[in-house]
Amino acid sequence: MKKVLVTGGLGYIGSHTVVALQEAGFEVLVIDDLSNAELEVVERIEKITGILPHFEQIDLREKKSVTDFFDRNKMDGIIHFAASKAVGESVENPLLYYENNLNTLIYLLQQCDSHKITNFIFSSSCTVYGEPDNLPVTENAPIKLALSPYGNTKQISEEIIFDSCAASALQSISLRYFNPIGAHESAEIGELPIGTPQNLVPFITQTAAGLRDELSVFGDDYPTKDGSCIRDYVHVVDLANAHVVALQRLFSEENLLNYEVFNLGTGKGNSVLEVVHAFEKVTGEKLNYKIVGRRHGDVVSVYADTTKANEILGWKTQRTMEEALASAWKWEKKLRGS
Ligand code: UD1
Repeated sequence: MKKVLVTGGLGYIGSHTVVALQEAGFEVLVIDDLSNAELEVVERIEKITGILPHFEQIDLREKKSVTDFFDRNKMDGIIHFAASKAVGESVENPLLYYENNLNTLIYLLQQCDSHKITNFIFSSSCTVYGEPDNLPVTENAPIKLALSPYGNTKQISEEIIFDSCAASALQSISLRYFNPIGAHESAEIGELPIGTPQNLVPFITQTAAGLRDELSVFGDDYPTKDGSCIRDYVHVVDLANAHVVALQRLFSEENLLNYEVFNLGTGKGNSVLEVVHAFEKVTGEKLNYKIVGRRHGDVVSVYADTTKANEILGWKTQRTMEEALASAWKWEKKLRGS
């Protein structure tokens, strides 16, 4: 049985990926610093899969703790999620983001080198494309000047991994996520935003649940079908499954290059207003929303060309946006005890 370390494994995408890995027969070790996740998620994972993952609370910025962990644990591969991800916060506190997202990556890669771990999957983002010139966006699209320190950490991380692959036996895949939404069908795990949600779907579900008065739709004067921004909303369970496929690709040495990149999206762009109306339709809830001004830093439209992931990785989404919205609502209601 292959053993896989998942950093940030109690977070939103991480926890769904731990479930997918266990279901695919991998033994999973989880590291999380609990800065943006609840310890209880470990038991919730066990509730779904029947397997309690080995968990250690470690802050990956502490180099000594990282070294110690690798000296005590053997593993065949790593999926690295642990990172800070709030765009606005990164603008206010860039050094925190560079420390959190880059130092940690470097420490992990150093351990890969000294412990001869050669399989590494990285959580990247469509943010690396900025405002793309052509849609849908392919992996060959140019990397644009980052709009935030957060986005810059994803670009720099990809470069660090690329250089490490060129200089060692490391083989790695960066997965560029579009907009992950939804929750596990069991409603045991899902997105747990701290404070006011910055992302669209948790804001929608909290508004429908009565925690927020109304959703602000940021702009209806964009050059799009209904004036609101377009994104590619992908079910988090589909996204989680892609990590299993990517890891299997490395383990079976099917990768064509020692560093590969794949877009993970549905290939379909939906506007903010379409998401709002789809949510109302699938849940039967009336959503209180108003149109406000544009949000600084938003790209107008971005959605994935998924050909490479479909044909080379052999991965395709199996769930619709409507299913994702329904699962997000089920999760929100369970959180609120209704
Ligand atoms: C953002 C980042 C992305 C990052 C992700 C992590 C940018 C340009 N993109 O994605 O790099 O990986 O967060 O969480 O910063 N919206 C509303 N009202 C709301 C919230 C959102 O109208 O209350 C709209 C936004 O304007 C946007 C869409 O909903 O058009 C999606 O927003 P969000 O969920 O925040 O994701 P991104 O901004 O696409």
